[in-house]
Parts: sequence; C-alpha cells; structure tokens
Amino acid sequence: MAKKIAVLAGDGIGPEIVAEAIQVLSFLNSDMALGLSFETALVGGAAYDAFGTPLPQQTLNLCKNADAVLLGAVGGPKWEPLPHAVRPERGLLGIRSELNLFSNLRPAILYPQLAEASTLKPEVVAGLDIMIVRELTGGIYFGQPRGIRLLENGEQQGFNTLVYCESEIRRIAHSAFKTAQKRNRKLCSVDKANVLEATELWRQVVTEVGKDYPDVQLSHMYVDNAAMQLVRAPKQFDVIVTTNMFGDILSDIAAMLTGSIGMLPSASLDANGKGMYEPIHGSAPDIAGQGIANPLATILSVAMMLRYTFNETAAAERIEQAVDTALDAGVRTPDIYSEGMTQTSTSGMGDAVLNALKG
Ligand code: NAD
Ligand code: IPM
Ligand code: MN
Repeated sequence: MAKKIAVLAGDGIGPEIVAEAIQVLSFLNSDMALGLSFETALVGGAAYDAFGTPLPQQTLNLCKNADAVLLGAVGGPKWEPLPHAVRPERGLLGIRSELNLFSNLRPAILYPQLAEASTLKPEVVAGLDIMIVRELTGGIYFGQPRGIRLLENGEQQGFNTLVYCESEIRRIAHSAFKTAQKRNRKLCSVDKANVLEATELWRQVVTEVGKDYPDVQLSHMYVDNAAMQLVRAPKQFDVIVTTNMFGDILSDIAAMLTGSIGMLPSASLDANGKGMYEPIHGSAPDIAGQGIANPLATILSVAMMLRYTFNETAAAERIEQAVDTALDAGVRTPDIYSEGMTQTSTSGMGDAVLNALKG
C-alpha cells in the first residue's frame, strides 16, 4: 500500500528548503523501495493568494487522507495587513488543530562540527542533545474568547485566553514521559504555576501522570528560569515538556544552542503516529528568494517522518548520517558558516547531503 505524503511548501524560503528535502526523500524512496508517494498542495499566503483562504478545503482533505505531511513554512510581510482569520499562520494552526497533532517534538542536537557556529561557548553546548515536547493544539493559541474589541471608553482591547483542561495536559504529559523513557529518563515540566492558574493545573496533572512513570525523574521549573537555564547550562536538561506558547519560545532559544535555527526539525504527532513534519523556523522573508536558506532542519524533519510515522529507522539514520557527512565535508550555508569552512547555497547543501547518501 502506498504511503502518502502531503507536501505543503508554503511561503518565503518554504519552497526552497522543501525542494531539497524532497530531493533527499525521493532518492531514498527509490534506493530503499520505501513505497512513498507525494502530492503537493498550497497552504498559507500562497493558498490565500490563489483561493482567498490560507487553508483551502482540498489542502485540508489531502492532509487528512495522507499518512504524513511535510510543511515548509508560512507567512510573510505581504500578508501581515490581512485580518487574523485569514493570515497564513492560521493555515498552519488549522492543520495542527484539525488533525489533532497535539504532541510536538523539537529535538535540539548539536552536531559537533557546528560548535563554533553557536553563539555560546563550545564547552557550554558540546554534546547537547535535548528534546522539547511542546503541547500544540491548546493553550493560549486556541483558547476562547479571543479578539480585539471596542471598550465603552472608546479604546480598543486585545484579548486571548489561556486554557488547559486536564485531558489535554494528561495526554501531552504521557507523550513526554514516554519520550523520556526512551532517552535519559529525566523530564522537566516548564510552567508559570506561580502566576497562572492554567499552569498550576498543568503542574498538578503532570505530577499525577508522573506516578505512572516511576523510572522517570520529574522536575518542575518556571518558564523564566528555564529560559535562563537553557542559555546558562543547557545540558542539565534531557526532555522538557511545556505549554504551546512557552514551547514556541523555548524552542527558538534551544535552536540557537545548535548553531542556527536552520538546524531544528520537528514532528507534530497525533495519538496514532500520524504526523506533520516541519522545521521550527519560519519563512525567513529577509533571505527568501536568495537561495541561501539552510535546508538541514527540513531534511532532518524528513528523517523524523521516516522514524515516527513510517517506522523506517534505517532510512532515518541514513539521512542523519548523511547530514553529519556533509558537515564533515565543511560545506556551510551562511547561517552556520565559521572560518575555514566552504560557504554554499541551499541547493549546494542539499546536494552535499544527497551525495553523502549516494556514498
Ligand atoms: P523566521 O524563523 O522566519 O526568521 C528568523 C530569522 O532566522 C531570520 O533572520 C531568518 O533569516 C533566519 N532563518 C530562519 N530560517 C532559516 C534558515 N532555514 N536558514 C537560515 N536562516 C534562517 O522568523 P520571523 O522572521 O519571526 O517570521 C517570519 C514569518 O514566518 C512570519 O510571517 C511568521 O509568522 C512566520 N513563521 C512561520 C513558521 C512556520 O511556518 N512554522 C514558524 C515561525 C514563523
Ligand atoms: C512555530 C511557529 C508557529 C507557532 C506560528 C507560525 C503559528 O512560530 O511553528 O514555531 O507559533 O507555533
Ligand atoms: Mn515558533
């Protein structure tokens, strides 16, 4: 049976980086007879321009009928003046929500070759391997009511709602504990329980769920401290579990530990292993169209897809190994460039990974 992948390149650098990831995946598909098939669709600003909506019904249907989704990135200055309901970002949020992709895994791993590319001291980041488990379909991103209203005094008020129900916290907690069990069995739950009731409940429920996982060492940390600790001593962490918005912010911080946001892949999973795979970065409007974006986060997202949705561990490892070999060869996109290396383009980096795969 064909395993279907919906490919949504999106906006900005999205099409540039997705092309490189598809090149790698297509090669492995024939080389290892993986039986994958691809179908493309529009999402985000590109979909808005064509259909007046960032998530056309046919795109959503394609995603629902696929086994996995590969997404580039959405958004850009062109669409910023649009009303929120049709902004490109709503397309992405719509897929996450409609497909129930509540568990977002964002691994931050430092490739030793990039220790010099990190803005932190090499000894602080050497050997870094942490996993952020971000709740992805709840919290302040989706809470109602939300909007901008006119107050009686004539001024406008913007409002959003941070809500979490027990069941939402419980399922992401299970996901995080299970992830920790496969790693170093250390889980740090990050919240703001000292101020926000929604995360006071978060802490309670995570603690309760922890009783089912006595082999995992659970700790709790406030998000402000966690942001500081990630920069001070990131290797104290193994797995971090946190809310939607805190996870968004902390994963961008963690990305920089690895040298560049262009290095961080992600998997967004439902309860059955179906998933959407995307780099954690955005559409990078400042470099879009220049052919210099780093495609490695997207290529590594494809490795996560092979591992988590298709159980093709050997294929996933081949990609990760090929990225390692490409970095060994000294090629670098500008974001991870350091002295003595060879600067290359998006396609140059994609080709380096492909050549490493071909051996
Ligand atoms: P961004 O992640 O797009 O860019 C931040 C900085 O990182 C920029 O300087 C950019 O050039 C750089 N960067 C990002 N990816 C890179 C890569 N692969 N290689 C080299 N450099 C890279 O964040 P932003 O500028 O805050 O947002 C731009 C747009 O992207 C916004 O519309 C935002 O909503 C959207 N966005 C989308 C996603 C997504 O689709 N998943 C994620 C984040 C932001
Ligand atoms: C991410 C992005 C998205 C988020 C935006 C584009 C909706 O920043 O995937 O990290 O905030 O989740
Ligand atoms: Mn983000």
